[in-house]
Amino acid sequence: MEIICAKTAGFCFGVKRAVELVFSQVEEHKEDKVYTYGPIIHNGEVIKALEDKGVMILHSKEELEEIHGGVVVIRSHGVEKAIYDLLEEKKVKVVDATCPDVKKIHSIVHKESEEGKHIVIMGDSHHPEVQGIRGWVQGEATVVESLQDIEDLSIPESKKCFIVAQTTFNLEKFKDLVEIIKKKGYDISVLNTICNATKKRQEEAKKIAEQAEAMIVIGDVSSSNTQKLYEICQNACEATYYIQTLEDLDFNQLESVKSVGITAGASTPNTIIEEVQNSVRIIF
Ligand code: F3S
Repeated sequence: MEIICAKTAGFCFGVKRAVELVFSQVEEHKEDKVYTYGPIIHNGEVIKALEDKGVMILHSKEELEEIHGGVVVIRSHGVEKAIYDLLEEKKVKVVDATCPDVKKIHSIVHKESEEGKHIVIMGDSHHPEVQGIRGWVQGEATVVESLQDIEDLSIPESKKCFIVAQTTFNLEKFKDLVEIIKKKGYDISVLNTICNATKKRQEEAKKIAEQAEAMIVIGDVSSSNTQKLYEICQNACEATYYIQTLEDLDFNQLESVKSVGITAGASTPNTIIEEVQNSVRIIF
């Protein structure tokens, strides 16, 4: 069997940096508590390794309000401005691991909304990155993800719109939805804020899925960028399987295929990717 593993599979630079920052804080502050605001990445295995080292996750603003001292690491997804304000008030040490690509969106939406524009964010409204971006908007913002959301979009005609995307949004879908918003007659400016790492990962996944008979997408179920990768691969290759770890892989499904592609989300550790790749190679 031919196995094609995506070169872009696994940790992107933003996730790698965030994870390394937490581990280095644990080493530097052996006497202090180290917290992350939200899970540092969407991957159970990495979170477990950090918890074993004593790192605690703060799940909400309320939990942050309760802490006294220690180090708080802001994860790569970023947080809303109100959290920075609270951290400053609490005078805890802050290590900001927000990905520079996300930071850029924060400052853009802050500036554009200050100038009176209505911000439209294309992404998942429940995702922490989108909530963080939303929290930098001064005034009105709408989060859209589907055709239905665009149909429901109602912004006063006098208002200019500024459109950005969650960094891991599906590029093709972004282009399509922007076209539809344009047709609604709004006065819009668009900035494609899908990050380069995501763009390359999605392009490569699509290319591999188009040529492979089966496709394996590895990532945590809570990882939004893995879900999008799955969407993209499934469009190109019907036999696409979403797994979190090797245990989820049903080898029977691969029995009659001659080529299999493998890709993984930005928060999937290399060890899991290699384990899957090696097992497929040994068995077939
Ligand atoms: Fe940053 Fe893109 Fe990764 S925004 S965290 S490089 S997926």
